[in-house]
Amino acid sequence: MATVSRRTFAAAATTIFSAAMVHSSRAAAEAPRELRLGIIGCGGRGTGAMNDSLTINSGVRLVAAADLYAKNAASLWKTMRAAHPDKVAATDTIYEGFDGYRRILDAPDIDLVLITTSPGFRPAYTHAAVEAGKHVFAEKPGCVDPAGYRTCLAAHDAAVAKGTAIVCGTQYRRQVNYLGAIEQIRSGAIGDVIGATARYCAGGIWYRPRVEGMSDAEYQMNNWYHFVWLSGDQIVEQAVHNIDTMNWVMGANPVSAFGSGGRFTRPDDSELWDSFSINYEYPDERVVSFMCRQIPGAAADVSNVVYGTKGECHIGASNAGSRIFDRSGKEIWEMKGSISDAYRQEHKDLVDSIRAGKPIVELRQLADSSLVAVMGRMAAYTGQKVTWKFVTEESQLDLFPKDLTWTSSLPSPQAAVPGKTKLV
Ligand SMILES: NC(=O)c1ccc[n+]([C@@H]2O[C@H](COP(=O)([O-])OP(=O)(O)OC[C@H]3O[C@@H](n4cnc5c(N)ncnc54)[C@H](O)[C@@H]3O)[C@@H](O)[C@H]2O)c1
Repeated sequence: MATVSRRTFAAAATTIFSAAMVHSSRAAAEAPRELRLGIIGCGGRGTGAMNDSLTINSGVRLVAAADLYAKNAASLWKTMRAAHPDKVAATDTIYEGFDGYRRILDAPDIDLVLITTSPGFRPAYTHAAVEAGKHVFAEKPGCVDPAGYRTCLAAHDAAVAKGTAIVCGTQYRRQVNYLGAIEQIRSGAIGDVIGATARYCAGGIWYRPRVEGMSDAEYQMNNWYHFVWLSGDQIVEQAVHNIDTMNWVMGANPVSAFGSGGRFTRPDDSELWDSFSINYEYPDERVVSFMCRQIPGAAADVSNVVYGTKGECHIGASNAGSRIFDRSGKEIWEMKGSISDAYRQEHKDLVDSIRAGKPIVELRQLADSSLVAVMGRMAAYTGQKVTWKFVTEESQLDLFPKDLTWTSSLPSPQAAVPGKTKLV
């Protein structure tokens, strides 16, 4: 593979290292027809998601990968070639730079696209993928602002109209102990649901310092977690899992959010807060007390507890399982579950639904949960009560920079200050 500097790519926008797409007429004659996979965003989760799809599905093949950085795409190809030699194309096809996604979407022989970039790009890329007639796997979160939410809704509706699939990376929706807990709650095991607590409290996260000579865009792209337009802040980027679970339990979006938070440990040039505490008011005056933080050394707790008139249901993150206790504290139900199985189930359901001619379209669900997280962030950042009506119908917040290129100058990040930061 040739080596080309990133600045060369900046000028050319995208370079194809090898355009040799493998087209097999034999595959077309087979039943079921081989599905050809492309991926946009070849980092940790992109590699994991592609591995999940190639592991759980037969009749699928990786044919092209796009990333801002060719080395990340090359690494994904290497990993997949080693793990699934029979499910990757003969030649590595890599598209680099900001237009790499377009090359994937314009390729007529790609059926299904995994969109696993940093979150800020998700709404536009998902919408463009649907417009291009591709089936989509979209990682969480779906959006980082109300403008992105509206783009997601348009993409959802377009996929329904076109008959293409969108499955999302909220894997807990497919984890057996989550499904079991919801079934128990719906069948009355804890009585009427009156409220819940949801926490994503964990340690610190990675930070990639600025290297001399980097433009603002180069720096922010590489250190994306620390910029709200790219990550949405911790409450959106990470804790959307808990918020999605709360929406599922409550069977609705919240009416309003009121909360607070701040930053104690973030690097000076990070925009992020490291703690949020939000009360979400759901219909029928049910309140979810939500908290998240990323503070090294502070206690970790990633869990959901749903309180009912007859008992409470604990739904733990990762592989912690679900349990129900009656009012006396006696455990009356328990179920284990594997997060790895859930990650793979997403890709099985997606491919099965395409083959069955009944494509799953679930982007609205992810968009709703992501906007609930955004609503909490907006409430905490501004110090105001923020309603679902405001974020869905009135907010003009659109964080994505116009005319983004590698040399873009982007405004210096400013961490929000409640009482000063405006609600827009
Ligand atoms: N479902 C889960 O449990 C789970 C777990 C981890 C991450 N994620 C999600 O996956 C996404 C990626 O996270 P990650 O941990 O893999 O981050 P990462 O930094 O390891 O990978 C992101 C990759 O996307 C590439 N990228 C960014 N913008 C791009 C663009 N415009 N075009 C092409 N490539 C682009 C980056 O260069 C990088 O290689 C995030 O949204 C994250 O929330 C989900």
